[in-house]
Amino acid sequence: MSKICNELLSALKAYTEKYEQVCYVVDEHVAAGEFAFRQEACLVLAVREEEKTIDTVAQIWDFLFAQGMTRKGLLVAIGGGVLTDLAGFAAATYKRGIDYINVPTTLLAMVDASSGGKTGFNYHRLKNSIGVFAPPVETLIWPGWLKSLPVDQFLSGFAEMLKTGLIKREGEKYALWEALLGYDLERMPIAELTPMIRACVAAKEEIVAADPKEEGLRKVLNFGHTFGHAIEELAMHNSQFTIHNSQFTIIPHGYAVLYGMIAELYLSVTLMGCPQAPLQQLTQLMIHYYGKPQCKCSDVVPLIELMRHDKKNERAEEINCTLLYDIGKPAINQTISKTQAKEALEYLFSL
Ligand SMILES: NC(=O)c1ccc[n+]([C@@H]2O[C@H](COP(=O)([O-])OP(=O)(O)OC[C@H]3O[C@@H](n4cnc5c(N)ncnc54)[C@H](O)[C@@H]3O)[C@@H](O)[C@H]2O)c1
Repeated sequence: MSKICNELLSALKAYTEKYEQVCYVVDEHVAAGEFAFRQEACLVLAVREEEKTIDTVAQIWDFLFAQGMTRKGLLVAIGGGVLTDLAGFAAATYKRGIDYINVPTTLLAMVDASSGGKTGFNYHRLKNSIGVFAPPVETLIWPGWLKSLPVDQFLSGFAEMLKTGLIKREGEKYALWEALLGYDLERMPIAELTPMIRACVAAKEEIVAADPKEEGLRKVLNFGHTFGHAIEELAMHNSQFTIHNSQFTIIPHGYAVLYGMIAELYLSVTLMGCPQAPLQQLTQLMIHYYGKPQCKCSDVVPLIELMRHDKKNERAEEINCTLLYDIGKPAINQTISKTQAKEALEYLFSL
């Protein structure tokens, strides 16, 4: 379960004192940043998506062995989604599994990556293609970390919140989606965001509790991810990616999901009768804040190939995705043809 805390160190202490040994894996920007978080038995890692590999997992295993970590110890993972996915996997497999706690420091990790128990790494540059389900003992969310987060990383996490807003409904209301559309993305006030973070985490945990191993319902959380993962993987293969004139060696995960949601909303409108409004609203946000994807027409074929190899597909020749009948009315296991996927990508690249 996740807990939003006003004071992180005392919340952390309540857990760590239950264990005879505690080791920390901490993101370099958190260790060096304004909070200068460091502890004894601390491995500081510089991790980006390119380092989400078995080599980095092995680095964490080596650190745990060097510390003489026993099965009764606790690993505390403090960082963004790349670090919590890697540390969670290392903890789940070290000596057949030790307890771990996630302390997410990016918005994306707070609202998505640090809960739900999916851990793993990229293999052959396919996103999260090796991993295990292994939930943390606890996720401690302290929104104060967001003060030092770069704008593009804030927007990346906000995109995953938009995803939750699009799949969540209470009766005839979709209050979360409306609250997110009303959020001031120019100033990014943390206090106003905190209730929305809480709502996103609660929505995810409710879904995961009903379907922990993604056999059905949990696939609603993959909205935007079939196209999004392919865009992210293609960016990993290309060396440079440009957003709003900034050069990235990879595209931030949430940006890829946002582009994926636009493609999947286009298919939701054309195939499922979803209203146009959310597609238009998301497109406006993209143009205003995220920038258009810098993809070329020649990217369409490789993107479709990457989608066919996505682990969500039962058979390699299929493209499986989650679409929407409406806001808050997701439809899982929708099979789309290559022609439909091509049309959706061409729509996205034409914006
Ligand atoms: N396990 C899941 O269910 C799940 C869900 C969604 C996404 N993910 C994974 O999460 C990853 C993306 O996570 P992310 O967006 O957090 O990226 P990330 O972990 O790469 O962090 C982004 C950047 O922010 C820096 N950073 C972290 N905290 C900071 C802070 N407080 N201040 C300043 N800089 C800080 C990091 O060093 C990094 O450079 C992807 O690999 C994705 O596959 C997993």
